[in-house]
Amino acid sequence: MTAPEPFGVGVIGAGTISKQYLRNLTRFPDVAVLICADLDVTRARAQAAANGVAAAGSPDDALGHPGVQLIVNLTTPAAHAAVTGAAIAAGKHVWSEKPLTLDVAAGRALLAAADAAGVRVGCAPDTVLGAGLQTARRLIDSGAIGTPLTALTLLQGPGPQSWHPDPEFLFAPGAGPLFDLGPYYLSVLATLFGPARRVAAIGRRPGESRVIGSGPRAGTEFGVAVPTYVAALADYVGGQAASLLFSWDSPLPRAGFVEITGTEATLAVPDPNRFDGDPRVRRADDTDWTVIPARGAAAGRGTGVVDMVRAIRAGARHRASAELALHVVEMMTAIERSAASAAFEPVETRFAAPAPLDAQWDPYVAAN
Ligand SMILES: NC(=O)c1ccc[n+]([C@@H]2O[C@H](COP(=O)([O-])OP(=O)(O)OC[C@H]3O[C@@H](n4cnc5c(N)ncnc54)[C@H](O)[C@@H]3O)[C@@H](O)[C@H]2O)c1
Repeated sequence: MTAPEPFGVGVIGAGTISKQYLRNLTRFPDVAVLICADLDVTRARAQAAANGVAAAGSPDDALGHPGVQLIVNLTTPAAHAAVTGAAIAAGKHVWSEKPLTLDVAAGRALLAAADAAGVRVGCAPDTVLGAGLQTARRLIDSGAIGTPLTALTLLQGPGPQSWHPDPEFLFAPGAGPLFDLGPYYLSVLATLFGPARRVAAIGRRPGESRVIGSGPRAGTEFGVAVPTYVAALADYVGGQAASLLFSWDSPLPRAGFVEITGTEATLAVPDPNRFDGDPRVRRADDTDWTVIPARGAAAGRGTGVVDMVRAIRAGARHRASAELALHVVEMMTAIERSAASAAFEPVETRFAAPAPLDAQWDPYVAAN
């Protein structure tokens, strides 16, 4: 059997993260990037040229491109809903960077529009499809830690204003450590535990402004609109509980900490913001961790686009689904509300658990 023609992809948003996506998407044989677009067309042209993409232009040029079947939305969070909505209206499937939307109503509207138009929406993070997290999932499924009971996650550091050249959006609604990095941690727990039913949280915003630390605008001061310290509790439908910390108010950087405690052992999950890393298991009487070598693909951002394209062609569910992403948006908005109300807030959206990936799955080998 010969492989089908590559699926036509248009990228909208040619900023910092587009470099990783374009490097990978131009090497995965199931997809072909046909156009790179941005409000800033100069940026789009530069990324197209750097990655051998034939065309560059405005978002409308990408939406109107006859070969484009799927839009990869890499714009900043405040633009996600509008760009994804426009792509759906143009009859295109969409892969969106996280968060799916800034609020639940906008997310529900996108899902309904996609359903009506007969197109799919998938959403980052696709790190949950990487070798590290998928190996952790297989370990839990095989009973390696007994029954999973609780999770502990930790993300702390001084914040991204030091390295991102345009960090303002990271301190605006739709970001902060909760909305920017929360999706990695919450998506891992959603994959391992299923949906949550309620959350509680404390939030803090000790500083009103920050200063850009790198790039052409270094030294520029900008405002902080969202909590930069969020400590949350999550109560899952399956009975599991989680304690989560997201902070950009710590001089001490510590990230990628996710531990799942079960009745028989504790599992240290690799960094949820990475595709690789080996899980570690420690049973009650162990004096040290046992490292379990990760098996599977660790090809990087864009992996979820390939899974989505293969699922569309096979008539199967894609794994990094908009339903799971909407649940994560609801958890984050409920966490933010709880930080203001000091009460537990309910979480009502649900999703179908994504099927595990086979250890042999490889985005670099074209699917038949
Ligand atoms: N930077 C990272 O390390 C990183 C990592 C993972 C995910 N992400 C996610 O990727 C997304 C983009 O982040 P970034 O760091 O690349 O931001 P960025 O500011 O560097 O780039 C965003 C680009 O989107 C363009 N844009 C904004 N609104 C638009 C619109 N309506 N139509 C077309 N183009 C528009 C901007 O002109 C800009 O070029 C965010 O959702 C972020 O959470 C970023």
